Amino acid sequence: MKGVVLAGGLGTRLYPLTKITNKHLLPVYDLPMVYYPIMTLREAGIDEILMVTGGNSVGEFLRLMGDGTKFGLRGLHYTYQEREGGIADAIYLARKFVGDDSFCVILGDNILDGSIRECISNFVDGAMIFIKEVDDPREYGVAILDGKKVKGIVEKPEKPPSNYAVIGAYVYTGEVFDIIRKLKPSERGELEVTDVNNEYIKQGRLTYEIFEGYWGDAGASVDALLDVNNYVARRKKEDPNLWRICPNVNIP
Ligand code: DAU
Repeated sequence: MKGVVLAGGLGTRLYPLTKITNKHLLPVYDLPMVYYPIMTLREAGIDEILMVTGGNSVGEFLRLMGDGTKFGLRGLHYTYQEREGGIADAIYLARKFVGDDSFCVILGDNILDGSIRECISNFVDGAMIFIKEVDDPREYGVAILDGKKVKGIVEKPEKPPSNYAVIGAYVYTGEVFDIIRKLKPSERGELEVTDVNNEYIKQGRLTYEIFEGYWGDAGASVDALLDVNNYVARRKKEDPNLWRICPNVNIP
């Protein structure tokens, strides 16, 4: 399985922090935000990763991460999203990199404390999403559950149909590119990952896992960024080996 990290977009919800730099280069405690999704994928056993960059300061990703050796990666590749076309538009840029393989996408501002290794090893076909119960899911995609199935996902609903937020980690095969090709832009002019996942639900081919660990969307707001920073700082003080998944490799 391959990995894709999405680090495009303009990060306007964090202005002016992101006016001249890229959201994913901002600090989460002692490391740049984008290190965390890369380490989550690496911990899951994935060693070929594509970074989809976009927006400000994209050249800095290369200076920061180079060829990925410091993460123990076999390959770290880069591509560039010309405009903020949405998450599905960014995923579409991975089609040549993915080829016939399956792949796990993580949003570059999603911080996971916990492993997805076992869950993604169960993936065979269709699409897999991760959900997590939260107090207020209105800022996220929200899953409508029906027993063991997801009946639908609503993006940022004012009245959430459940407390299960869809977190920013998805598993697909190359088939997803055919679905994205047929998508229409949403009201905000973006190709939405929620529309992709709803299409899999329609086809009866979406599975979900409840993510048991901590999940934070560091890009949701300045307060979310602060909360994630505080959480990571506390956890790293308890266990300095956390997010240090390559014992022989010195990060940074
Ligand atoms: O964090 C989880 C949520 O992420 C999900 O619950 C939602 O269903 C999903 O739509 C998404 O919502 P956000 O509003 O938080 O997405 P945002 O626009 O912040 O984009 C998330 C990441 O995707 C961001 O770190 C950069 C990347 N991205 C985003 C856009 C719009 C791109 O690479 N290109 C883009 O065009």
